[in-house]
Amino acid sequence: MSEADVIISLRDVTKRFGAFRAVDTVNLAIARNEFFALLGPSGCGKTTLLRMIGGFEGPSEGVIAVDGADMHAVPPNRRPVNMVFQSYAVFPHMTVGENVAYGLKVAGVSKREIPGRVADALRMVKLDGYAGRRSGQLSGGQRQRVALARALVKRPKVLLLDEPLSALDAKLREAMQLELVRLQHETGITFIIVTHDQHEALSMADRIAVMNAGRVQQVASPAELYEHPANRFVAGFIGQINVFEGELAEAGGDSCVVDVGELGRVGVAARGLNGRGGGRVTVAVRPEKIRLDTAPPVDGRIGCAGEVAEIAYYGGASHIFLTTERGTRINANVVNAGRDTQGAVRVGHRFWCTWDAADTFVLPDDPRAGADALSG
Ligand SMILES: Nc1ncnc2c1ncn2[C@@H]1O[C@H](COP(=O)(O)OP(=O)(O)O)[C@@H](O)[C@H]1O
Ligand SMILES: [Mg+2]
Repeated sequence: MSEADVIISLRDVTKRFGAFRAVDTVNLAIARNEFFALLGPSGCGKTTLLRMIGGFEGPSEGVIAVDGADMHAVPPNRRPVNMVFQSYAVFPHMTVGENVAYGLKVAGVSKREIPGRVADALRMVKLDGYAGRRSGQLSGGQRQRVALARALVKRPKVLLLDEPLSALDAKLREAMQLELVRLQHETGITFIIVTHDQHEALSMADRIAVMNAGRVQQVASPAELYEHPANRFVAGFIGQINVFEGELAEAGGDSCVVDVGELGRVGVAARGLNGRGGGRVTVAVRPEKIRLDTAPPVDGRIGCAGEVAEIAYYGGASHIFLTTERGTRINANVVNAGRDTQGAVRVGHRFWCTWDAADTFVLPDDPRAGADALSG
């Protein structure tokens, strides 16, 4: 990303509350016109980071710049950013139109200009015709749209959204996810959305920063995060993984050789292990990459045998849980592509769980170093 493309830049940003580091040495560059997500478990510092960008908190250390200008000492209302809060602040005693106009009046926009801009903003969020409606009478989804219109009407360069859809039910949330993507494309405003929901982040964002305990773990596109997670935390937070203990035998270039008790000695693609002579590593594979076979793996596939212990049926797919001879639990997802195909797998059946060696991750974390990284 070139300097000119950067709209938000964070350099070594830390926020301390007493001795506790809620945000710890964060470095980020967010591009113009980007749909960016901050994703991580509850309490990892997402809201605090967003509030610092908005100017509602000051960083304890580090520099935040918006459009090239250092924001230190710039109050929230003078920043070219606008925030939609988690509990969307809509004034219930005002009409929809008054709610949307409110920020413009406060900002001193001329009276003549306001009605046109309010109408534009309401059209954008598909609330045309609602200007005269009392806000207190709106549904949750409509109130959320009013909150969005209130933010958009001020034409910020960056819109900050803190878990904007968390109060909506699943169906409405999915519809609003598509709406937000459309709005971002239509307006060209940079969106930074905070969420703890991996599906939401994956489906909406151009890029995602995965956070844990105040620190950014990885910044990448959804597919890159899913297929090439940088560590065990990211691998486990974005989707599900099957984990094996391995011992690194050789590492060079983009591949390595690992000894994994249950899989034997396997050669697999791996990034970021260069220079490591050995040591314990985590070897992992996604559940949907595993095939249940009746014969041992051949042709560049690897795997091990297991017995079906449980089956969770989800309609479109089933999650098959197998136990290996050594007691490792393997989760294999199978798509129920035919109406009656599920019957082929039953509890007690034995299969070879096999997958393409190219679909294996090798992660630098020691799998015995503690499960805390996964529970977050
Ligand atoms: N004003 C504050 N004073 C003390 N601790 C705070 C304050 N705001 C947030 N924290 C703490 O900082 C951590 C990160 O909080 P937050 O940014 O809200 O996380 P998230 O939005 O990821 O759930 C939490 O442990 C929270 O309790
Ligand atoms: Mg939060």
